[in-house]
Amino acid sequence: MQTYVDNLQSLSDLKQSGITVWFTGLSSAGKSTISQMVGRELRMQGYKVEILDGDVVRQNLTKGLGFSREDRNENVCRIGLVADLLTRNGVIVLVSVISPYRETRQQVRQQIGNFIEVYVNAPLEVCEQRDVKGLYKNAREGKIKNFTGIDDPYEPPLHPEVECRTDLETPMESTAKVLAKLKNLWGFATDG
Ligand code: ADX
Repeated sequence: MQTYVDNLQSLSDLKQSGITVWFTGLSSAGKSTISQMVGRELRMQGYKVEILDGDVVRQNLTKGLGFSREDRNENVCRIGLVADLLTRNGVIVLVSVISPYRETRQQVRQQIGNFIEVYVNAPLEVCEQRDVKGLYKNAREGKIKNFTGIDDPYEPPLHPEVECRTDLETPMESTAKVLAKLKNLWGFATDG
């Protein structure tokens, strides 16, 4: 707790510019948990924050899209567009989507510019054991097809700005890592 509170106190002195923090990783890896904790801390410090979470966005902005490569990329691109607009307007945007394809993540990174990638990494066995929504079980039983990590690919980031090993660290430790990276980047962006 103390670690990231310290970070935020100095962070609040900095002038805010928008940024997108893109959380990628398998289902049940912990993307939503960490992005919500990061969002809560930043809001407490008075920052403008929006969270775009795959499970939520798929009920409105990207409703009707499935899980083919094409549909996942369309999902990511639409979310990327909204994240870009918000980022340009000084918002900290926390995006939490599997976004399994490296090339598509690279596209949104280039589009947005002010962007950091957070690889929320837990081994498949751990995600499957957690199975927060019971979907891995259904995928193993063949009731869901093209499930990421089971019978659909996930391409891990090669050079993420932050990696959270959620099997080895607590959500609070992961949250602190993300906040520390934001603080560093903003230090560069606003100094001078
Ligand atoms: S993405 O691949 O297009 O980036 P997104 O993050 O929006 O995925 O949605 C993933 C969520 O959809 C999962 O957390 C899970 O709840 C649900 N889901 C349903 N079917 C699948 C599937 N075939 N593969 C992965 N997630 C699925």
